[in-house]
Amino acid sequence: MHRHSRASASLVEIVVDSISTDGKSDVVIRIDRISKIYQTGDILVHALRGLTLSIHRGEFVAIMGPSGSGKSTLMNIIGCLDRPTKGKYFLEGVDVSTMNKAQLADVRNKRVGFVFQSFNLVARTSALENVELPLLYAGVSAGERKRRAREALAIVGLSERERNMPNQLSGGQQQRVALARALVNNPSIILADEPTGALDTRTSVEVMEIFQRLNRKRNLTVIIVTHESDISLYAERVIHVRDGRIASDEKVVNRCDAAEVLRTLPAVSTEMDDLESIEEEKEPI
Ligand SMILES: Nc1ncnc2c1ncn2[C@@H]1O[C@H](COP(=O)(O)OP(=O)(O)OP(=O)(O)O)[C@@H](O)[C@H]1O
Ligand SMILES: [Mg+2]
Repeated sequence: MHRHSRASASLVEIVVDSISTDGKSDVVIRIDRISKIYQTGDILVHALRGLTLSIHRGEFVAIMGPSGSGKSTLMNIIGCLDRPTKGKYFLEGVDVSTMNKAQLADVRNKRVGFVFQSFNLVARTSALENVELPLLYAGVSAGERKRRAREALAIVGLSERERNMPNQLSGGQQQRVALARALVNNPSIILADEPTGALDTRTSVEVMEIFQRLNRKRNLTVIIVTHESDISLYAERVIHVRDGRIASDEKVVNRCDAAEVLRTLPAVSTEMDDLESIEEEKEPI
């Protein structure tokens, strides 16, 4: 009896294990024939034309395509910033395509973290306070806000910079603060629209390393838009969008490991430490 129950327990463990190790048995995003039509004056723009797509939990997806093909429109819908004109969108099984603005905002705050090309940090506000912002909106107490914001800054390797203002940080550091801010609400999906568009090569790989780490260790679903095919190779799946439709959807064959790539790149740094030390050296003169 005992043996039997142990055997069945281990079978359960195996089943649970196989679900949690590949982590991809559930569909987080199910988009069913969505269209998005923008109207400006008399002109109608068909940004998305009956696009269908499913993304599983823990997937790391790159979206590519020409300018104007509908990538940001798709990201905005996935992130509940906007609604499709037609079609259905299920986020974690919930139909969000018919939700009103307040409901969408609620879903967005709980489940989605955004990162943008231009960082979008609040000026004259410290790194720590920038990261705390989403928690402030969510009504989290001051102490708890600080604790969680510090934790998020530690994940992106910026604990030493919590008091710096955005203009006292390098581009890569600002993007990492933005990433910490996206993480602080503990979302299940991270959406990044050209997160490395304004960064140099090494800094881009550093940012990709953080995405890969979060994806692997926390099973976060990561979706990035990029124009750079080098960057798309850090994802496991690349979707090409063209004229508001999916033109191709493929698995990345030789996926790059950002941590490994970083080890091969020269450690040239344009970080503030260097600037500070240069200034210090100048002082005696
Ligand atoms: N708010 C809007 N109002 C009107 N038209 C819009 C709006 N947003 C996007 N569009 C139009 O929808 C189409 C798709 O735009 P979208 O921003 O999704 O393209 P994209 O693939 O992200 O391009 P890019 O690579 O340049 O960022 C474009 O023709 C664009 O002009
Ligand atoms: Mg865009």
